[in-house]
Amino acid sequence: VNHLLGIKDLNSRDIQLIFETADHFKEVINRPIKKVPSLRDITIANLFFENSTRTKLSFELAEKRLSADVINFSASQSSVKKGETLIDTVNNILSMKVDMVVMRHPNPGACVFLSQHVNASIINAGDGAHEHPTQALLDSYSIRERLGKVQGKNVVIVGDILHSRVALSNIFALQLQGANVMVCGPKTLLPKYIDKLGVKVETNLKKALEWCDVANMLRVQNERMDMTYFPSTREYTQQYGVNRALLNSLDKEITIMHPGPINRGVEITSDVADSKQAIILEQVQNGVAIRMAVIYLLASKIKH
Ligand code: CP
Repeated sequence: VNHLLGIKDLNSRDIQLIFETADHFKEVINRPIKKVPSLRDITIANLFFENSTRTKLSFELAEKRLSADVINFSASQSSVKKGETLIDTVNNILSMKVDMVVMRHPNPGACVFLSQHVNASIINAGDGAHEHPTQALLDSYSIRERLGKVQGKNVVIVGDILHSRVALSNIFALQLQGANVMVCGPKTLLPKYIDKLGVKVETNLKKALEWCDVANMLRVQNERMDMTYFPSTREYTQQYGVNRALLNSLDKEITIMHPGPINRGVEITSDVADSKQAIILEQVQNGVAIRMAVIYLLASKIKH
């Protein structure tokens, strides 16, 4: 396959190969000269139809570290605003001899649709509430780095599971690697199909934290929310926010993750987010090596 559309399309060997390749690139980007010449013959377009800080910058940096030529497209400053379609937009970009497209889009399935209609390698940088595969890969890679392995670990994903592409991609990735996965959140923020995903479900945060080795704290995605479904922010924080007192009440030290952006004081307090127990900035740092690995492995299949 010449695309990375979702973790659903990968197997455990694919993930292992991506991690081994990322191990190499992590060593490269810690050298004084952080670049390799591998992709001098490749041009990549980053298409962002939705806001991003980490994913956008991380992909761009990964591409530059691989010596690819890079162009950046932000829908809000483009002719999409004049009514141009997604396929016309992408085909115009591809006519300028672009080999690979990294796309974030608010519609679930937008990357699959694009992959069926244009002649380029597509990487999904997040499509609505569907998948965010490179986030799940960097998350598992960061667990592997902190705890030695992913297999057999108990991982709980806490919060707004209903609107979260990070949750879905993480569930698939963690299960492929033999982790035990739980989701925890208010019933109104769990999808109806949760029982079909083979995960444990817990609505009590304290019980979930007592069970887990790793807690991945998600932001409540107010921008995707019908507010009638949602408890007030204060209620949410009381029931599903992680804070120092709660962590101290456990009989072990768990690892805390967050994909960002953080709403400090809502799903996580600053004293937890900024503590050594949290690997939030390690996740961001690992994102560059993971994205270098994904781009490098896909680019190796492009024929000029
Ligand atoms: N984790 C993540 O996708 O962050 P951004 O929305 O800032 O890219």
